[in-house]
Amino acid sequence: MVRIAPSILSADFANLADAIDAVSAEADLLHVDVMDGHFVPNLTIGPPVVKAIRRCTSLSLDCHLMMTNPGDHLEAFRKAGADGCSVHVEIGGTDELIDRMRELGLDVGLAVNPDTPFDHFSPWLDRIDLLLLMTVFPGFGGQAFMGEVMPKVREAREEIDRRGLRVALQVDGGIDESTAAVAAEAGADTFVAGSAVFRASDPADAARRIRAAAERACSAPRS
Ligand code: DX5
Ligand code: ZN
Repeated sequence: MVRIAPSILSADFANLADAIDAVSAEADLLHVDVMDGHFVPNLTIGPPVVKAIRRCTSLSLDCHLMMTNPGDHLEAFRKAGADGCSVHVEIGGTDELIDRMRELGLDVGLAVNPDTPFDHFSPWLDRIDLLLLMTVFPGFGGQAFMGEVMPKVREAREEIDRRGLRVALQVDGGIDESTAAVAAEAGADTFVAGSAVFRASDPADAARRIRAAAERACSAPRS
């Protein structure tokens, strides 16, 4: 099943409620990019904004924590209304962070940078709900999709299927109609799209097209 997660990073922050409304019918999750100015050079949003968004949508809030110390803030995100959080494997302490997310009742996501190899995250595949494979280096919206991550997407898909795990395989960065098809063909099932959705003249239609492209690629036989 294909799921679409528009990233509000590219939405108009002065009109977030309207932006979310505009994509709600075509979104399965809402992706919230949290950047701490340390793990990545950029600074974005935190729990107060998640709390405000929570009041204007019933969509599941999928918080991507690009942070050095997410453990200090998981409870605040949960209390603000996050449904799931993804922490980066590169920061370490993954076992404790997973335990904490479970304790808080969050969906557990593990995020992986483009240059982090498969064996750096594969030990946790049976403990998580979502694997977020970055298809750009995190930090900014609007970057170009990195096709060189696709062998890792394939490897992750094969391992998830081989072990019979129920782990969503999310790709994030540079996703549009054509790159969603490439990632779907490699085995991704959950597609984050920021600029391709919110910079489009019709965001709902853009999300619909990304979904259709991914679905077409999924139903084609895998090479
Ligand atoms: C990048 C973020 C992405 C990004 C997606 O650091 O994690 O979610 O905002 O934006 P686009 O789709 O514009 O690459
Ligand atoms: Zn993200």
